[in-house]
Amino acid sequence: MSIRFSAPGRINLIGEHTDYNLGFALPIALPGRTVVEYQPAGGDTLVVRTDRESDPVRIPLATVPGELTGWAAYVAGVVWALRCAGHPVRGGTMSISGGVQIGSGLASSAALECATLGALLAATGASVDRIAQARIAQRAENEYVGAPTGLLDQLAILFARPRYAQLIDFRDLTVAPVPFDPDSHGTTLLLIDSQARHQHAGGEYAARRASCERAAAALGVPSLREAGDDESALAAIGDREDFRRARHILTENRRVQEVVEHLSEFDAVAVGALLTESHRSMRDDFEITTGHLDLIVDVAVRAGAHGARMTGGGFGGCVIALVDTARADDVVEAVRNTLRRSGFPEPGIDRVYAGDGPG
Ligand code: GLA
Repeated sequence: MSIRFSAPGRINLIGEHTDYNLGFALPIALPGRTVVEYQPAGGDTLVVRTDRESDPVRIPLATVPGELTGWAAYVAGVVWALRCAGHPVRGGTMSISGGVQIGSGLASSAALECATLGALLAATGASVDRIAQARIAQRAENEYVGAPTGLLDQLAILFARPRYAQLIDFRDLTVAPVPFDPDSHGTTLLLIDSQARHQHAGGEYAARRASCERAAAALGVPSLREAGDDESALAAIGDREDFRRARHILTENRRVQEVVEHLSEFDAVAVGALLTESHRSMRDDFEITTGHLDLIVDVAVRAGAHGARMTGGGFGGCVIALVDTARADDVVEAVRNTLRRSGFPEPGIDRVYAGDGPG
């Protein structure tokens, strides 16, 4: 038996760092996908190779956190988390080819987790609902890899469907499809890859999460979602930095809901303005952008985009820009020219759409 299973990356349209604060986000699936080819067999080992490295990695099915690092830890983490959840896992050989850039804020880690998970489940025929799958993949990342990430990426990927974004409510764990088809409205979504890479097992992501938790504790609420949406309620947070982190979460949750309202008429001007506001909030309050990303956003907006923002966890990666299709070439050229003049690497720029989920 040979199983081929693939999962996309995701582009978060808006709602950044809201997931572990039990707020809202609005992602779509990226056209690019990670593909797993799996030949299940007996034995107690999974032998895995990727198109990025020549040597395969042997993952014992009884692997435990700490045993493997690097890309293999995501695969091993899924094996471990699946077994912890009481599901059988078969050994065999697996090869992985990645269409999702690593460290670019497009959830390459979750794409790898979800593709591995889908392939392993297909081999045993176990049926696990998508919310439970998301939790298994998240556990792999949190406890095996050691990155304290939320559920955004896994839910975005597992619930993705073409020409729809997904409105995720992380408190109620509900996912509602929202039509998102810019092309049919004369609009283009550009994905601008700065080529600067990040990693979330590093300290900054965890520091933001800790700051939000302190802010919630100062307000006496279990999560910032319970802080309501009135910014004046945040005054009780004594620490100025924690206050600004919490203000980003509150205003970002509001922006997600406003974007959803404006998408019902596909009001690109209003949606674009909210994207740019989100970027400013990530720049000034949450402090997860970089000068490089700020420059891309500024140039795109000055060149005529309705709005632009960094997408993903931050500190590198990609910017999205919503632009009238007729102006897209001008925006692309302005971004390329400015980055070249400023000595930054040549960005990757693609016109993207909401793609399909795993399968
Ligand atoms: C990373 C994490 C997600 C989420 C985003 C920021 O992608 O994996 O859980 O927190 O950052 O929105």
